[in-house]
Amino acid sequence: MGKEKIAIIGSGLMGHGIGQIFAVHGHDVLLYDLREELLGKALDNIRANLNLMVKHGIYKEDVVEPALSRVRTTTSLEEAAKDADFILEAVVENMEIKQNLFRQLDELSRPEAVLASNTSVMSITEIASKSANRARIVGTHFWNPPYLIPLVEVVQGDDTSMAAVDFTMKLLESAGKSPIHCCKDVPGFVANRMQHALWREAMYIVEQGIADAATVDKAVRLSFGLRLPILAPMENADMVGLDLTWSIHDYILKHLCNDTRPSKVIQERVDAGKLGFKTGEGLQTWTEQQIADSRLQLQRYLLDVTARDAIKR
Ligand code: NAI
Repeated sequence: MGKEKIAIIGSGLMGHGIGQIFAVHGHDVLLYDLREELLGKALDNIRANLNLMVKHGIYKEDVVEPALSRVRTTTSLEEAAKDADFILEAVVENMEIKQNLFRQLDELSRPEAVLASNTSVMSITEIASKSANRARIVGTHFWNPPYLIPLVEVVQGDDTSMAAVDFTMKLLESAGKSPIHCCKDVPGFVANRMQHALWREAMYIVEQGIADAATVDKAVRLSFGLRLPILAPMENADMVGLDLTWSIHDYILKHLCNDTRPSKVIQERVDAGKLGFKTGEGLQTWTEQQIADSRLQLQRYLLDVTARDAIKR
């Protein structure tokens, strides 16, 4: 994989962080957004992220200026698209806006360019459905913050070619990410299906009065959550033995939640305007200090893990 020309459409929360990753790894990045001030903010954010990573020992100081010099900005979609080898869309989560954008890119981009959508939940097949050249459109589901979470789900839509998937996987690897191939365009792709299966059961435990919200989180953090980064479900099942796993599932699965609607536990709180951090009360109550501490702890944890992995590399 050589030095590629990357266009990022939408420089918001996800777009600027994704652009940053490519720029750090030597690719040329052109960030597009609707207004100059949004692009100015995106560049400030990239600089702040890089400085934070230098402070945490993830990068040497001499990474910052060369990376920033590889990021250019534009408010012209035509300019953003015309020379790009890879165009990644990270605009608002709206099907019509995304479909129109990909239809415009049909004409504005080189036919060989690969086009990607960072949609978190929408169907890639549907996003591509208004475009003429659908074979080159893939999903690239980054996680927030994209410069600290390694995984990117590369989603193959019904019309996506293997060539587009292969190119995208290689490009992401060249940018230091850990891409996985999601072979079917299904809601939740791979990782969110598992995440929300767990959340559904967590809400159900609260709903059934088995344990309260704080206890549910404690149970996750201090048991399987602790070992998950090393021992994930498939390896864990092999470790304990599939015969034992079979017996456990045979006994327990019928007792687990299989609701297809969101839990009453959330519904009641949403109806009462209790939205969580946003309002100071959700499944638990939160002071301003606790909210700030929670965000800071997460950021520090992710920076520490990234720093540790950078040393290993
Ligand atoms: P955001 O609202 O922070 O940024 C979107 C940016 O796109 C804005 O700066 C907006 O001005 C720009 N934009 C450019 N062209 C646009 C157009 N034609 N119409 C509307 N906006 C346009 O959004 P965020 O959070 O960065 O999300 C972007 C995409 O990434 C969405 O599809 C979202 O679902 C997905 N995503 C978001 C995650 C998150 O945690 N925020 C995680 C994973 C995926």
